[in-house]
Amino acid sequence: MTHTISSSKLEVRDGSLRCACSVSENGIFRVHVQLLTSTVTSVEASVLGDSYAVPAGCFQAAPISQGNTSASAAAKGREARTEHNPSSGEVVLHAACGSRLSALGEGLELQIQTASGGALKGLSFSRGTKGVEIRWGIGPADRFYGLGERSGFLDKRGRSYLMWNTDEPFHHELRDPLYQSVPFVIHRLTDSGADGAIGLFLDDPGRSVFDLGESDPGTAVIRTERNEAVIYLLPGENLFDVTSAYTWLTGRHELPPRWALGYQQCRYSYYPDSRVLEIADEFRRRRIPCDVIYLDIHYMDGYRVFTWDPERFPDPQALIARLHEHGFRVVTIVDPGVKIDPEYDVYLSGSARNVFARQADGAVYAGEVWPGAAVFPDFLRQDTRAWWASQHHAMFDVGVDGIWNDMNEPADFTGDVLDRTKFTPPGDLMLDGSAGLRSIDRYHNVYGQMMCAATADAFAKQKPELRPLMVTRAGYAGIQRYAAVWTGDNDSSWAHLSMMIPMLLNMGLSGIAFCGSDVGGFQGNASGELFARWMLSSCFTPFFRAHTSTGTRDHEPWAFGAEVEGVCRRAILLRGRLLPYIYSLFDEYRRTGRPLLRPMLSADWDDPRLAGMWNQFLVGADLLVAPVLEPEARSRVVYLPAGRWYRWDEVCFVDEIEVQADGPGTPGTPGTNTNTDNRGLALYHGGQEYLVDAPLDRIPVFVRAGAVLPLYARAPQYEADSAAVDAELVLCLFADTEAFSSELIVYDDDRESQAYLQGEFRRERLLFSGPAKYQLDISTRESGYDRRAERYRLQLYEPGGKVLTRIIEAEDGVYSLE
Ligand code: GLC
Repeated sequence: MTHTISSSKLEVRDGSLRCACSVSENGIFRVHVQLLTSTVTSVEASVLGDSYAVPAGCFQAAPISQGNTSASAAAKGREARTEHNPSSGEVVLHAACGSRLSALGEGLELQIQTASGGALKGLSFSRGTKGVEIRWGIGPADRFYGLGERSGFLDKRGRSYLMWNTDEPFHHELRDPLYQSVPFVIHRLTDSGADGAIGLFLDDPGRSVFDLGESDPGTAVIRTERNEAVIYLLPGENLFDVTSAYTWLTGRHELPPRWALGYQQCRYSYYPDSRVLEIADEFRRRRIPCDVIYLDIHYMDGYRVFTWDPERFPDPQALIARLHEHGFRVVTIVDPGVKIDPEYDVYLSGSARNVFARQADGAVYAGEVWPGAAVFPDFLRQDTRAWWASQHHAMFDVGVDGIWNDMNEPADFTGDVLDRTKFTPPGDLMLDGSAGLRSIDRYHNVYGQMMCAATADAFAKQKPELRPLMVTRAGYAGIQRYAAVWTGDNDSSWAHLSMMIPMLLNMGLSGIAFCGSDVGGFQGNASGELFARWMLSSCFTPFFRAHTSTGTRDHEPWAFGAEVEGVCRRAILLRGRLLPYIYSLFDEYRRTGRPLLRPMLSADWDDPRLAGMWNQFLVGADLLVAPVLEPEARSRVVYLPAGRWYRWDEVCFVDEIEVQADGPGTPGTPGTNTNTDNRGLALYHGGQEYLVDAPLDRIPVFVRAGAVLPLYARAPQYEADSAAVDAELVLCLFADTEAFSSELIVYDDDRESQAYLQGEFRRERLLFSGPAKYQLDISTRESGYDRRAERYRLQLYEPGGKVLTRIIEAEDGVYSLE
């Protein structure tokens, strides 16, 4: 092995293998591996294109100060340094923050180590059968997380995962791949003496396989199909450090308009227009909050994208105006396939601009999707994206608020129905991406992402003041910069309700924090019980939308009779009341990369019982949700992490009561849901399991003692209705029995414009401490936005079932509660 060091790179070479290693100031290592062949003999002959995951200029290699005397150089600040031990032959690249990458001995074997000493052993690069092969060791108790959207449980160890976006409607536990490919895995080290977590991100939108101990339980292997690979290694002390670094690199979802965090209703499809209005009216009449209605493919004229069916939707503008009047936002589906039809202007204009992808022989490729024979835009080209963006006038000019990009793996019905990985255009279709005109296989996993980039361009040009809502099915690493992701065509089954939880948790750990599943399941008919349980679970997921396939029974909250309707209303009302908390968590995600929905192990990294726990989750740091995942179950086992926890579900899923803080409850109107309930809460001790009752109308929900939860006293029916509830913010304070001091940042802004990016937002820090003296310290940190609640209702829950309520003016200050 030889090595050379330049101003920002450590290069190690062994035979025909070469690795160029650099590290950013914040401690992310980048390794560019090349296999030199008889035709590619020079290290300069890289054919890598620009990254689709990492925005240009984001990763900057830190300057390297050389030599063994570099402690002072590193101390100077953010420089990296190298170290060479001539006797052992080891050469080390040290990041300023303490982590290190070292190369030792023969063969290209590296070691990556966290600042506190946890290390991936024997990371080696070699020539595999089709391209670069990357291997490293797995300790007996190590685990894997991340990988974006995958079926199966939380710990991804013991299986192989193919990176290949696939229209896969059959998501059982062993089915892989699905619609998205995020070649990023977090290896959690537990055996090396020092704990830690290391992320590996292979930035390659082509095909690769991550075998995480399937072939050999002690070895992880990534097999690529190219002679070059760019890998980022992200060392951290825990999963969130790694996710934070990964999302620093690949980006985070900006704040959505707040209406996109409300409940959303979809089906394949609501039509004609009168049916859409009927659904909308039902929500308002039954006082079930709803913010968004979706139009699936039947709104189009013969499934021609950017058109409206003249009979079913003769006047989309009038329809949408009416929906807007009633507080609904409208999202339309847009698929990539453009119908081949010489009388269709979108097809004609795309053909004239030559934007449709061609085969190697030069002919425009014809596949088949919903409209029949169709062509596929080459979204990797900037001019195609601009052309596609301009088509959105047909949507935005009549008032459409959001866009839902589907079938963008891309799905192609002329492919192989049985082998779903081939249900896509063949490899002789050429796309003109960052590495030049190449087979679609080279770029397969970014096709959908670049379609979303085109949609983002449409929003930026045609609705520059407003925040977009984009939803996508396909995606690659970094998809979170563009769109929310839903988990595609699940089933109306208990297994799929269960699988939603680990899927969403790993998506969140992979940067895709704005995610959700089709509530009730897409394929098949939900039972009322399943629908109710799904609603109770999903009211906590960031993206909250019910959807069902064509030909199934109705899947609206009222479609299963009065009892289930009541349960759905309670769940959706709770979601509405939680909006201040959820919005603040979104802000936290934007700042730190920490997902809204969090795996249980984030409550206590050291508790081995939490490491693989997939059937409970946390919302933020403090809210613990334990969904009921079986039919007939009216109780379930809940494991509470260390600390103390208040049982909250007995009071949070409420409806049809107006309970006064200082008096007994009096009956109210359905659809009002107040938190001004003075019922006390039971305190549970963590570190153990409990068998907890779970009647049909609620699931177990606990809040960490010491926490603060900001809530509305009453749920808005839709976003514009929140003006009516904004006057009062309830700050629920959950007292602990041992000394505590906890912090929560409450975030707010105008909730729909881009002005927050210019500083027009408000962050208040709430510091709650006790128990010798319960105190709440409210201090405004950023005040670029004026609106604030008029008053805060402090609601202190104490052990022993005591509740104390105090109403204060919404002002900074230190408030003691006695
Ligand atoms: C796909 C989508 C589904 C949609 C259907 C019709 O199956 O995943 O959500 O309803 O196409 O557009």
